[in-house]
Amino acid sequence: MAYISKNDISCQLECLRYYLRNKNQDYSVRRIRSLYDAFLSFLEQFGSGYQKEILRNIINKFGFDLNQADYIMREIYSHIGIYNEENDEYIRMARLVENKFDIKGQNILEIGSGPFPRLSEIISQKQHGSGTITAYDPNLVSEHIKGIKLVKQKFTDTTLLDNYDLVVAMIPCKATPIILRSKRFIFSLCGCIGFNEEEKRRFNGDMKAWLKYLIELAESYCNQDENIVMEEDPFSDLTIMAKTKKI
Ligand SMILES: C[S@@+](CC[C@H](N)C(=O)[O-])C[C@H]1O[C@@H](n2cnc3c(N)ncnc32)[C@H](O)[C@@H]1O
Repeated sequence: MAYISKNDISCQLECLRYYLRNKNQDYSVRRIRSLYDAFLSFLEQFGSGYQKEILRNIINKFGFDLNQADYIMREIYSHIGIYNEENDEYIRMARLVENKFDIKGQNILEIGSGPFPRLSEIISQKQHGSGTITAYDPNLVSEHIKGIKLVKQKFTDTTLLDNYDLVVAMIPCKATPIILRSKRFIFSLCGCIGFNEEEKRRFNGDMKAWLKYLIELAESYCNQDENIVMEEDPFSDLTIMAKTKKI
């Protein structure tokens, strides 16, 4: 590999082994080898879709950052199967989506999927070809991933939402206000308090007031038979917001 020495790769694999052992997972030589092979084939397939500097970071960070990986690395770690199900936020989110909504036969949209659309990938597998999943992100690393319609663009105020039965997202940051307008949604909130200067000034770090504002904004798009629900993901500190039909 161009950016990294054999010695460094040994250190990375040792870190991976240590991580798996701490998480009570199989840390045999065979497992480590198969995970590393999966990482290399991921790079072969999708590496050229990342900006050069980001690709360099991915190669250098692999294994070292497992306890505090950023979303770019978490998508890859989840895809190649390093996390067990409890530690995998994408698997947990897909389960939440499935528990709250019908996903089979539905047209689902993921906004802000990240470079590798891992949540969409899991949802597509759960749909078994019944329904569709479309992922929007200007930073997508590929335009061809089996089972997912990929749109390497920003979803904007003027992009049509009507064709989708459900919108899903994970920490979509600035795309959040667009999601709130959709007829059904579920997403995990990012930690930002305000998405522009005016909101940042107005809420001045007050998370409680910011959440109240987001709920009121979401409710302003609700019909009488719909409501907004918020819950904490019990395995992380993320807040989940969803728009559902009243029961
Ligand atoms: C914090 S990342 C989260 C990525 C992914 N959901 C994950 O958790 O791995 C936010 C992503 O939203 C994307 N994004 C922001 N605004 C967007 C918009 N209007 N339409 C589509 N994607 C957007 C960014 O490009 C970025 O990849």
